[in-house]
Amino acid sequence: MSFKYPQIFLISLTVVIAQFVVSPVYADADETPYSINDKGEFDWYTFNGYRRYHSECHVCHGPAGLGSSFAPNLTESVKVLGYEGFLETVINGRTNVSNTQNRNMPSFASNMNVMCFVDDIYAYLAARSDGVLDHNRPKKQGKPAAAKERDSACLP
Ligand code: HEC
Repeated sequence: MSFKYPQIFLISLTVVIAQFVVSPVYADADETPYSINDKGEFDWYTFNGYRRYHSECHVCHGPAGLGSSFAPNLTESVKVLGYEGFLETVINGRTNVSNTQNRNMPSFASNMNVMCFVDDIYAYLAARSDGVLDHNRPKKQGKPAAAKERDSACLP
């Protein structure tokens, strides 16, 4: 069998294989990290993300993740970064990559008030980014026992 354009054949083959390899992971990443019940109340984790965001990130990233003249709009960033990129940035910080004005994203690796709740903050920003949550305080469901256990295991 001979191909006039072997590179194109190889690229197509790679794309076909990549679809099989990547799709299960992609399906997982696609799952929404927040949930809403029929009364319009968000799960407790997402509500907690709202609170933690506003105590730790708001000062630079503006109210409700919308960005400020100092730091980027995180409702847009999470679309691009996804969970892994978001987590990586919060852990390691970022030095002057997307601007030229020496404005740095600090590392939060040693801040337990962020690291214990980083998934909650992500869930909150994902709900904001998907447009299912406006800039107001979300209505919330009760705190589940699992969340209480998680907090006491994580916080010093
Ligand atoms: C002291 C100010 C400051 C605080 C507090 C802060 N950030 Fe940032 N953050 C920045 C700046 C400035 C940038 C842009 C850095 C750059 O240009 O590379 C940034 C970038 C980011 C990015 C990458 C955005 C992108 O589009 O690539 C993420 C994600 C992020 N911050 C999340 C958070 C979260 C979550 C919190 C709260 C736990 C937080 N930040 C708190 C200043 C801050």
